[in-house]
Amino acid sequence: MTGVLVTGGTGKTGSALVKLLRDNDVPVRVASRNPAPGAVRFDWTDPATHSAALRGVDRVYLVPPLVNVDPMPLVEPFLAEAERLGVRRVVLLGSALVLPDTPGPLELAARVRAQPGWVELRPSGFMQNFLSPHPIGTRIRRDGEIRTSAGDGRLGWIDARDIAAAACALLTDQGHDASEYLLTGPKALSYPDAAAIISAASGRPVRVVQISVEEQAAGYEEATGMPADFAIALAAIENGIREGREEQVSTAVLDLTGRPPRTFAEFAEEHAAEWSPGY
Ligand SMILES: NC(=O)c1ccc[n+]([C@@H]2O[C@H](COP(=O)([O-])OP(=O)(O)OC[C@H]3O[C@@H](n4cnc5c(N)ncnc54)[C@H](OP(=O)(O)O)[C@@H]3O)[C@@H](O)[C@H]2O)c1
Repeated sequence: MTGVLVTGGTGKTGSALVKLLRDNDVPVRVASRNPAPGAVRFDWTDPATHSAALRGVDRVYLVPPLVNVDPMPLVEPFLAEAERLGVRRVVLLGSALVLPDTPGPLELAARVRAQPGWVELRPSGFMQNFLSPHPIGTRIRRDGEIRTSAGDGRLGWIDARDIAAAACALLTDQGHDASEYLLTGPKALSYPDAAAIISAASGRPVRVVQISVEEQAAGYEEATGMPADFAIALAAIENGIREGREEQVSTAVLDLTGRPPRTFAEFAEEHAAEWSPGY
């Protein structure tokens, strides 16, 4: 088939992308470790699933292995097979937030960008982090609290559905030819700004508690069971946020999709009920 293999097809950006592609009558193959009928079994840690998932598609949305500081050993054989099979477009879900002292994800991004027609998306922090089951969202609902070491540093929070919309434009060949796109929402906001917007929308007071990077890393590890090396790198991103290094905002969602990205206030209104303790 010519069509799109959507890895991470059951996840936040992937599931929204599947819907958008289907709305555009694009043949889609959803990849999952536990595939629903019509989907394909795909597991980064099981290379035997890679070739069958790729065979016959000409485009791929690539959500790399999660919480992994060194994705290349798992992803490179997949990319080599994609090249061999003539996949003309790979859209990688990368990140604007670079994990400190962690070259693996950057190597993967460089590998994708080097291939003509293949693209890296670099989204800022997801607004969906403020919803359960993300640890930030879970703590807001449970304790009315956000714990961060980022101070008043700001971030261009983006709705995962706008990332999917940007990916859809790139996977349906609407004439865009850059090798990377920084994707953000319309405005950079700090955690205290986000807490105030959530409080206003939900009626639930949300306070912000400043903690150290080390406490944040320990909390991530405890809440999710993610590997310690990844938790430390993830928490250390907050140093960059605090120092103002993640404040950038781009027009790429509008440029790619013709629509402005959703605002944090719109997101908070839509999900207001999800922050009540009984939800
Ligand atoms: N959250 C943020 O603020 C942020 C910011 C920038 C970039 N990102 C990037 O966004 C990416 C997605 O993160 P997310 O938390 O939003 O996850 P997600 O896409 O909501 O969910 C993870 C997806 O990965 C799939 N998956 C999990 N383990 C897999 C495996 N071993 N093999 C194949 N597929 C597997 C799951 O599919 P099944 O369970 O169906 O197999 C699911 O569809 C990450 O790479 C992250 O770095 C996140």
